[in-house]
Amino acid sequence: MANETDTERQLLQHQIRLTQADHTLKALFSRDSDRAARLTFEAPHLTADFSKQHIDSSSLSVLLRLAEEKNLQQAISNLFAGQQVNNTEQRAALHMALRGHIPSAAPEVAEEIKRTQQQMADFVNAVHNGAWLGQDGGAITNIVNIGIGGSDLGPAMVTAALQDYLNPGITCHFVSNVDPAQIDSVLAGLTPESTLFIIVSKSFGTLETTQNAERAMAWFKAHGGSNEPISRHFVAVTTNLPAAVSFGISEDNVFPMWDWVGGRYSLWSAAGIAIALATSWQTFVDLLAGAAAMDQHFLNQPLEENVPVIAGLLSVWYRNYWQAESQAILPYSQPLHLLPSHLQQLDMESLGKQVTRDGVSVQQDTGAIIWGCAGTNGQHSFHQLLHQGTTLIPTEFIAIACPARADRWEPHQHLLANCFAQSRALMTGKSTEEVEAEMLAAGASTEEIKRLAAHKVVPGNRPSTTLLLGRLTPQSLGSLLAYYEAKVFVQSAIWQINAFDQWGVELGKQLSRPIASRLLTERNPATPRATTNEISATLDPSTEQLISLCLKTQDSNNTR
Ligand code: F6P
Repeated sequence: MANETDTERQLLQHQIRLTQADHTLKALFSRDSDRAARLTFEAPHLTADFSKQHIDSSSLSVLLRLAEEKNLQQAISNLFAGQQVNNTEQRAALHMALRGHIPSAAPEVAEEIKRTQQQMADFVNAVHNGAWLGQDGGAITNIVNIGIGGSDLGPAMVTAALQDYLNPGITCHFVSNVDPAQIDSVLAGLTPESTLFIIVSKSFGTLETTQNAERAMAWFKAHGGSNEPISRHFVAVTTNLPAAVSFGISEDNVFPMWDWVGGRYSLWSAAGIAIALATSWQTFVDLLAGAAAMDQHFLNQPLEENVPVIAGLLSVWYRNYWQAESQAILPYSQPLHLLPSHLQQLDMESLGKQVTRDGVSVQQDTGAIIWGCAGTNGQHSFHQLLHQGTTLIPTEFIAIACPARADRWEPHQHLLANCFAQSRALMTGKSTEEVEAEMLAAGASTEEIKRLAAHKVVPGNRPSTTLLLGRLTPQSLGSLLAYYEAKVFVQSAIWQINAFDQWGVELGKQLSRPIASRLLTERNPATPRATTNEISATLDPSTEQLISLCLKTQDSNNTR
């Protein structure tokens, strides 16, 4: 690392020390009977056990010193005060205001939030109590949320997670992909009279969402939906009122979004209306309250007892000092199966940055690859690489202590047993001696032991955190999600990058335009052509060839 500070040098030395044979996780536990309790911390609605991480008091205190030197506390205060933390777009990040923390720099948002939340509550209650009916006077029974990125992932994940809080009269569907296979299969099971479409797009200009919204509108009209009562069936959530209105949505049916809520934090805003429709307004309020409790913990708890701060520092520790390129998130909870996808956007869109806030190249790696799936499924798939692969992958387990229902108690104990067994197996592994003794006891011959022992050895000493929630409730889910947001912010503060912009995403959008234009105009000359500049800037020989091959194949299959 160029120009490393004394603290950074010390962290490198601690990393070397902690890789020695007498500092394995097992060794650290054997020397310190209090380790599990000492490295376990409480936050609202969750307990975080960091004791299976490659840290001890001295390395943790140097990580905390790093936080001090990078002015983490000040960065957190600036965030909560409503400073322009998103400097490239000259915006504050005020999603915490939606959960009740009104920033001193922007007190005016309180009124806007109150008004919008009242509008949301009235609408949700009207749909639920039958005051809002479909065109034939029947109840709305199906909601289709059309959006992508933060306008889809968060609401879809929360709705799946709160499956025990669902309103039985409503089924919620989420459509995001521009591939019409998705929306078509959703629409195939619906009737217009009982369906409500929510078009969620902060910009109301995102290709996927506008394409799907148009397809939904065409389907609605083609299946007996009349023009007049369209207002009973289409609502929008956007900052772009004119675009929503020109699409055909009545102004009264547009819920506001604001540029001070980043796309990946949308679920807390009116973009989360599908959550409230699928469950209840109170459930949404409880979700916000859970997040608010974690916000206060993040803002006020001293850094050394601050759960998202410690978690964020550990992410920096592994990324920069242990060269870990990825981090696995493994919720042992089927309702949380969409959490890794939501966190991919939250974490990777925020931390995938190569320059600091000042536009200077970063000196260290930033952002890890976030991946995972609901346990126990991964155990029968990629966990093999976690246990015996050659790459270090810090893992975060999420366990829920109580089952949702009493009749699930027994399988739930198996779920917990597997979760705890995995973190334990990652830590303890199985040595050559243990493998040989086990094989011998099972009656294996010396020759067989010699042939197989090396394959059965599991190195262990692989780090993990376990987050334990009491129950999966709207409050605990809100707190868990706010924990991840804060953990991401901590990393951005240490790396001094802007966690709230996403310029890289724009390039793909920009480059798809001239290609779409080429693919479309051959059939429909009325399609607006890309500018000459766009075409010459983007069409390299490989892309050119792919386009020609597709068009030729479409011709020979008569699909054009
Ligand atoms: O893909 C980038 C992005 O801007 C995300 O940050 C955002 O959540 C998503 O697109 C959707 O944008 P919109 O809500 O404006 O349609």
